Amino acid sequence: MKLLILNGVNLNMTGVREKSVYGSETLDDINREIEAFCKARGAECEFFQSNLEGELCTQIQQSDADGIILNAGAFTHYSYALRDAIASVKTPVVEVHMSNVHAREEFRHKSVISEVCKGTVLGFGKKSYILAAESFLI
Ligand code: DQA
Repeated sequence: MKLLILNGVNLNMTGVREKSVYGSETLDDINREIEAFCKARGAECEFFQSNLEGELCTQIQQSDADGIILNAGAFTHYSYALRDAIASVKTPVVEVHMSNVHAREEFRHKSVISEVCKGTVLGFGKKSYILAAESFLI
C-alpha cells in the first residue's frame, strides 16, 4: 500500500502562519508523524506540496499510489481544475482539513472537491491526516 500525501497552497507555511488555527508544528514535522504511522502499518508514503494548482493536478494525474490524501488549502473552495483532476483518475482521494472549515468564514463552508472525493476528514488538526491514512489502512 502506497499513499501520496498532497498539500496545496500555503500549507508550506504550517507552523508559521495562524498558529492558533493550524498549530505550531511545521509541515515536515507533521509529515514525519504520518510517515511513522504508515510505516508501522506496513504502508509506504510519499509527500508533495505546491502552491501551484497545475502542479497538484499533475501529481494527481501521474500518481501511482493506491490512495491520495489531499489538503488542497484554499484551492478546496474554488478549484474546478483540481476537482476535474480528481474525477479523471481512479485513485481514491480523501480530502483533509486541519481546521473545522464549517466553523470558520462562510467561503470555507463550500468545497468544490468533496463530491469527487472518497471522503473528508476535517477539524482534528494534524490528526486529520492520520485519520485519513487510517481510512486506507483498515
Ligand atoms: C485548510 C482550510 C482552508 O480553508 C485553508 O484555506 C487552508 C487550510 C485546513 O487545513 O484547515 O489553507 O485546508
